[in-house]
Amino acid sequence: MDCEHLIQEMNVYYDRRAPLHDDYLGYASGPKNEQLVAPLIRIFEDRVSHKKVLEVACGTGIWTRILASRARSVLATDINPSVLDIARVKCCEADTVTFRTADAYRLKGIRGPYETAFAADWWSHIPKSRLPVFLNALHRKLKPGSSVVFVDMLPNRDLHRMFSHYDEEGNLIQRRLLPDGQQFHVVKNFPTRQELFESLAGQAQDIEYHEHHALNRWVLIYRTV
Ligand SMILES: C[S@@+](CC[C@H](N)C(=O)[O-])C[C@H]1O[C@@H](n2cnc3c(N)ncnc32)[C@H](O)[C@@H]1O
Repeated sequence: MDCEHLIQEMNVYYDRRAPLHDDYLGYASGPKNEQLVAPLIRIFEDRVSHKKVLEVACGTGIWTRILASRARSVLATDINPSVLDIARVKCCEADTVTFRTADAYRLKGIRGPYETAFAADWWSHIPKSRLPVFLNALHRKLKPGSSVVFVDMLPNRDLHRMFSHYDEEGNLIQRRLLPDGQQFHVVKNFPTRQELFESLAGQAQDIEYHEHHALNRWVLIYRTV
């Protein structure tokens, strides 16, 4: 399957999965969730506090809520209106957040400049050949010297084995099933620290990489040049 089809299939998967997304991630409630991910928040909190933040692929707003209570403002974007509808409800008390449908590879119609960009569990879904396209689109919306924060999953042996294979460009392709039997193929890469740093060559300064094994996440933080 070529990249365009993979990207399209993933969009449809997350659209259909929207009502289940929070359950799949074990999301309980705002305060409980925030307590759970507090060690991750501490790593990047100063980068979002009082900033004008652009969030990419916000999904059902689990992280948007966390950003909203710290940032000066948040524009939370996702390609699927179905997940944004859920996020709007979750963040209804936050007057700092605006939601907008946007394709992360284009971010068309998003008027910058923003001071911080944030994305959780998104980098792993980007086909390797599309990383430069995404990073270019993102960096164009930011002021020089802006902070960029990515949070994503560390490799998990079970996930890795989950009906997966590698495609020609080295993306890990997983088969995902929904409870009604619908089946999708989704890119789920687990980049190493070195691969992450290489992807940012010439585009980033002050790069930091953190791992939190109990929460199975890495956090990548840098400033745009
Ligand atoms: C794994 S979910 C992460 C959602 C959220 N950030 C979280 O941590 O719960 C991936 C999200 O990427 C969105 N997505 C998929 N393709 C996209 C694209 N091309 N542009 C923007 N968002 C996209 C999906 O709709 C989905 O909400």
